[in-house]
Amino acid sequence: MSYTKGMLKDDALAGKVIVITGGGTGLGRSMGEYFLTLGAKLAICSRRLEVIEKAAAEMMETTGGEVFGASCDVRNYEDVEAFLASVIQRFGKVDVLLNNAAGNFISPTERLSPGAFDAVIDIVLKGTKNCTLAFGKHWIKEGQTDKTVLSIVTTYATTGSGYVVPSAMAKAGVLALTRSLAVEWAKYGIRFNAIAPGPFPTKGAWDRLLPGDMAEKLKLENRVPLRRAGEHQELANLAAYLVSDFAAYMNGEVVTIDGGEWLQGAGQMNFLDIIQSEQWDWIEKATRGAK
Ligand code: HXC
Ligand code: NAP
Repeated sequence: MSYTKGMLKDDALAGKVIVITGGGTGLGRSMGEYFLTLGAKLAICSRRLEVIEKAAAEMMETTGGEVFGASCDVRNYEDVEAFLASVIQRFGKVDVLLNNAAGNFISPTERLSPGAFDAVIDIVLKGTKNCTLAFGKHWIKEGQTDKTVLSIVTTYATTGSGYVVPSAMAKAGVLALTRSLAVEWAKYGIRFNAIAPGPFPTKGAWDRLLPGDMAEKLKLENRVPLRRAGEHQELANLAAYLVSDFAAYMNGEVVTIDGGEWLQGAGQMNFLDIIQSEQWDWIEKATRGAK
């Protein structure tokens, strides 16, 4: 047994049609591949058709599952509606929407143009709103129940963070959407949850957030109490559970999977990690007798 292995039963997602935005690369692709092995049918989209088509072909080859890939810019509501229609034409229905597409870069906020802010907010917040609204309206109009929306946020959706301010604003909005609709649309049989991942190496995130040798230099794993980055399978296991019927009573939750990273930053005394054993001896001596 290991966190690099699949967790759920082989047929845990049998019969489900799952849509993943940004499903051709990185974490979206890893989650999709695992969903396929659990019996789901998959529809993936992103802006670059060639990336999606290649990913769809490779995913079908490795898993033997069925993948429909299309180009769709989530910033554009008409694009999203057209993508939804094409998924229904292909598979007859949709059961799960996974809001995974994102854009991000690091920068001091005062260096950002209004257009740079919009570039990130439009993909993350507007894109998630577009997909959630289009899919939700469809399910409600058709009277379809047992549907679920899972959104990938970040730990700084809750804490905020400098140097990624447009992303932090947008992800906080996605979290608010998740918690709000978990209540409002429960009556329609639609569940909403989110995952807040810590550092999971992907080309998309790493090249933009930590270009060149920054990742090596900053030793990101030292920021994580468990002293390692996440494995894609760990995230895929969690996502598969949350979209499966095993999680039928999970609604409005954000699950953090970050090895304790954000709490390490939050705890006032956590910096004392740097104190060596002999220094602790001295500190104990100096403080025990003190009245
Ligand atoms: C400052 C920048 C910039 C940069 C672009 N801009 N890159 N400003 N620093 N590094 C500005 C441009 O000058 C322009 O402003 C505006 O942003 C739009 O730029 P475009 O290149 O036209 O944007 P677009 O093609 O829409 O690309 C969007 C993108 C890009 C966000 C800039 O990075 C992208 O497509 N990313 C998708 C994949 C991705 O980012 N994945 C990582 C997700 S990781 P003007 O003023 O000229 O209009 C994540 C969480 C990670 O989200 C957490 C890790 C722990
Ligand atoms: P990634 O590979 O860059 O994934 C982003 C995807 O979004 C790409 O496939 C991209 O494809 C797609 N996309 C961007 N703009 C789009 C648009 N307008 N319409 C449709 N698709 C669009 O990065 P990742 O690391 O796997 O990130 C996946 C998710 O995890 C994101 O929500 C990210 O915020 C979150 N996350 C990641 C980490 C991490 O450590 N990796 C940590 C916390 C949260 P195109 O360019 O072809 O459109």
